[in-house]
Formats: sequence, C-alpha cells, structure tokens
Amino acid sequence: MDDYRRVADLIREHGNVVAFTGSGISVESGIPTFRGGQGLWEKYDPMEYAHIDAFRRNPEKVWNMLREMANVIFAANPSPAHRALAELENRGLLNAVITQNVDGLHQTAGSRNVIEYHGNHRRLVCVGCSGKIDFTESEARQIPYPICERCLAPLKPDVVFFGEAIPMVEMVRANEEARRCKVMFVIGTSGVVYPAADLPFLAKSSGATIVEINLEETPFTSSISNFFFAGSASTVLPAILELIGT
Ligand code: OAD
Repeated sequence: MDDYRRVADLIREHGNVVAFTGSGISVESGIPTFRGGQGLWEKYDPMEYAHIDAFRRNPEKVWNMLREMANVIFAANPSPAHRALAELENRGLLNAVITQNVDGLHQTAGSRNVIEYHGNHRRLVCVGCSGKIDFTESEARQIPYPICERCLAPLKPDVVFFGEAIPMVEMVRANEEARRCKVMFVIGTSGVVYPAADLPFLAKSSGATIVEINLEETPFTSSISNFFFAGSASTVLPAILELIGT
C-alpha cells in the first residue's frame, strides 16, 4: 500500500501523466488479449490472418476472423480501468492515453485525448482508394466481405496490420507525449510489439517515472519500471484514483 500512496502523491503533486495501454485493460470488458491462454493469436496465426499480404490474397478468409472480432468489440463496455483513466484526465492530471487497442473503449469511457497507435476497428478503410466509413453491424453482415461503394475494392478495419506502417500523425503525437510526461502508466501490455514498445523507454529516458500494471512481469519490469503493481488494471487503477482523492 505504501507504493500505491507514493504513486498517488506523485500524481497529485505533478500531474502530467500519460497512460500507455494494451489489450489487458480490456479483458474486464470481455475482449481477450492477443497472446497467452485465451489469446486471439493462439487461435489464429497472425501471419495468416493479420498480415496485409494475407488480407490482399484472401480477404474472405481474413474477414471470418474480423467479423468475430467485431462482434466481441461491438458488445463490449468500458472497464473500471478505462473509466479511472478518463476520470484522471477530467481532473486535469492526465494528458493523454496512447493505446495499442483498436476497440475504442477509452473514448466510450470519456477519455478525450486518445492516440490510437494501431488504429480503430470501428472504422473501415478501402484497400483500393483509401476511403473511410464507419464500421457498423450492417457492414459486418455483408458476405463474403464488405466492399467499397466507390471503387468496389475490399474494405478492411482501419487498423494497422502486420506489414503496414504506424500512421505518421499518431506516431509523432505519441513520441511527443512520451517525451513530455512526468509519469507514464504502462498498463496491460506484453511489450513485445514494436515500435509501440519503444514508447515507455522513450518516456523513461526523458525523465519519467514508469508505473507498470500487469498480471505478470514483462520486458519493462526489470529494465525500466520504477513501480510494478501485480494485478488487474481494473483493481489497481481505481485504488490509486481513490488515494489521489478529489
Ligand atoms: P498481449 O496479448 O501481447 O499482452 C496482454 C498483456 O495484458 C499481458 O502482458 C497480460 O499479462 C496482461 N493482462 C491480462 N489481463 C490483464 C488485466 N486484467 N490487467 C492488467 N494486465 C492484464 O497484448 P498487447 O501487448 O496489447 O497489434 O499486444 C500488442 C499488440 O500485439 C496489439 O496491439 C496487436 C497485437 O498484435 C496489432 O494488432 C497491430
């Protein structure tokens, strides 16, 4: 509990927090992680289902997984952890959430400055003309897959597939926030996917205190984390918020 209090004091005094989040923060919302036991990549080989070349070769096959993912995301609600981060921003203590997640749940919880490093699954982009539309249940129902009304090419969720670049604007904004913050929460991420996993290292080398929350240790834990809270994000974050007080 001493460490909880130290982190709460640090945040109350300095604010200037950035949260870097991964799929662990959405587990309590009913969305499985990518790696480990129930992970999506245990069921689907990412090179066959999440690489842009695989999508171009066989959109129908990849859409079988995307439709399943969409149904899970459309049914999900924010977790107590998503809400705690929105509340910290409301109180003027948190500058930004940089998320690797594509579920849009930070915004649903009320976070405003959200940098979606890997895109958003609630939007579709045309692989032919790059036009974008909202992804609703009606597109998810289209068989064999939704196509662009303008150029008839396949549509795909506007998320970063393996083999695609991180959107430049998000990358620049994320680097700036990581460099500027005094405290970085690193929440529910295995820290193995780059360049996203560079961000905590950038924050640390720019002087930030790293506060990691995860069920298990990661490559960050022994290298850069000043605090490691072993536990669920939806338990740890509300507890810290309560200690910060109003
Ligand atoms: P991973 O599945 O690699 O890691 C999830 C992490 O969340 C693990 O370290 C778990 O221990 C932790 N975790 C699980 N439940 C938790 C809970 N309730 N509270 C806190 N932590 C919990 O997911 P990411 O690190 O997000 O990329 O994966 C990174 C990227 O790999 C994703 O953005 C995705 C994937 O390929 C793209 O789609 C481009």
